Amino acid sequence: MDFLKDYTGKINKELEAIDLPNGPSNLYDPLRYFFKLGGKRIRPILTLLAAERFDKNAVNDSINAALAIEIFHNFSLVHDDIMDEAPVRRGQQTVHKKWNQSIAILSGDVMLVKAYEYLNSYSPEIAKQLIKIFSKTAVEVCEGQQMDMDFEKISKVTQEDYLKMITLKTSVLLGCALQMGAIVGGGDVQGQTDLYAYGLNMGIAFQIQDDLLDLYGDPKLVGKQVGGDVIANKNTLLMVIAKESANENQLKKLEKLSTETNIDRKIKGIIALFKTLKVQEKCQELMGDFYNKAEYYLNKIDVNDSESGLWLLTKQLQKRSY
Ligand code: IPE
Ligand code: IPE
Ligand code: MG
Ligand code: MG
Ligand code: MG
Repeated sequence: MDFLKDYTGKINKELEAIDLPNGPSNLYDPLRYFFKLGGKRIRPILTLLAAERFDKNAVNDSINAALAIEIFHNFSLVHDDIMDEAPVRRGQQTVHKKWNQSIAILSGDVMLVKAYEYLNSYSPEIAKQLIKIFSKTAVEVCEGQQMDMDFEKISKVTQEDYLKMITLKTSVLLGCALQMGAIVGGGDVQGQTDLYAYGLNMGIAFQIQDDLLDLYGDPKLVGKQVGGDVIANKNTLLMVIAKESANENQLKKLEKLSTETNIDRKIKGIIALFKTLKVQEKCQELMGDFYNKAEYYLNKIDVNDSESGLWLLTKQLQKRSY
């Protein structure tokens, strides 16, 4: 477990060492602020571990790809918080709350460009491969984010629609992080494909867990507003399953709660209804299925080995509380 901490420390150190201009401070201070907020650094760790899987000495070579992934992720969070009107992130004020929306848009944009600069630091042959998968992924994340917002306005979203949406907004980035690591580490095509499939399934489980933590997590640990998804009327897996399982009366109640303006009453009402419908258990079950699928692919490339970083991380994520 300790060596995963070493990886986190490495990423944090690199992020804080990024030499950003002093001014305009309203452009660069949000970057400095956000990079210092911490975060689990899962995606860059996946890149480092994937590179190492193919070449023991590739950790240092893969650091720039890892930074590109984490900086892109941070860009997506800064913009996501505007879209979701989220006040808190990683236990602190979101960028658009601390500064304003225009500043959050522009400083997020700079992060996206910085991410590309890190990819361009590789040899032309490697950079070309990295930029190809990275650009495809970045567009997919935008597609997923648009679907997420469109779904706020649709009352009935199927599990299939939901899974497509989270695959795009979340899982492809985990897949990409792993594939980029494999590319830098010199992994073969089969290895890259299996790692990508592992990442996709883990990403789906990861987002389901994120949905669960949004409502049931300890806000001090999660570092986000409790019930943010309920407040924004998001069609999370919890809501999708609730609507599938509800009878007519319960559906009416859900409908009424969606327009409830007293936030406390809204969240308490939803939690009570979800309890009756066993929503939490049903989500956990589906999440478990995707973690199992992830393990299947991981086993293909990295036979269950308690010393392996990817296995440790996978096990650690399954019991995460933030
Ligand atoms: C949050 O990602 C956004 C999702 C895709 C669920 P993380 O939970 O990895 O956020 P940080 O980076 O640790 O803050
Ligand atoms: C975020 O999904 C996915 C991206 C940032 C692309 P969420 O909106 O659920 O993420 P959190 O819960 O705000 O971290
Ligand atoms: Mg969102
Ligand atoms: Mg959000
Ligand atoms: Mg969320």
